[in-house]
Amino acid sequence: MKTNHRFAIPLAAAIVALTASLPARAVDVEAAQALAKKSNCMKCHSVSAKKEGPPFKETAAKYKGKADAEQKLITHLTTSPKIKVDGVEEEHGDLKTKDEAEVRNVVQWILSQ
Ligand code: HEC
Repeated sequence: MKTNHRFAIPLAAAIVALTASLPARAVDVEAAQALAKKSNCMKCHSVSAKKEGPPFKETAAKYKGKADAEQKLITHLTTSPKIKVDGVEEEHGDLKTKDEAEVRNVVQWILSQ
């Protein structure tokens, strides 16, 4: 039997178009939470409550609609910037991974709160 290629190409094109119209990447929430926990982030942060650090909902609101949000937070979470905790300067913790995709996933998770 001859395979019918007539539909295969439009179908493939439709799938590509559909995929491109989805948000950039789907967030792997479980992986993000696991890495945040492993990196001790949740000691100072929670999704919605103020602890030593701002809640992730507040950070998401602060960066909403900002094109450089992802890059800013990647820098924040990979370069140990100096921050003030209760008026005392210390280094902000980094995510415990060398994998940029994992960092990005946590950043997207924070921004989606
Ligand atoms: C010792 C406590 C502490 C730990 C641990 C900590 N943070 Fe923070 N974080 C803070 C404080 C305090 C701020 C606010 C700093 C400022 O505004 O200068 C902050 C700021 C942030 C922000 C907002 C940055 C911005 O540009 O608005 C994000 C997002 C964040 N932390 C995520 C994380 C993640 C993810 C981790 C784990 C890798 C983590 N934090 C670990 C205390 C902490």
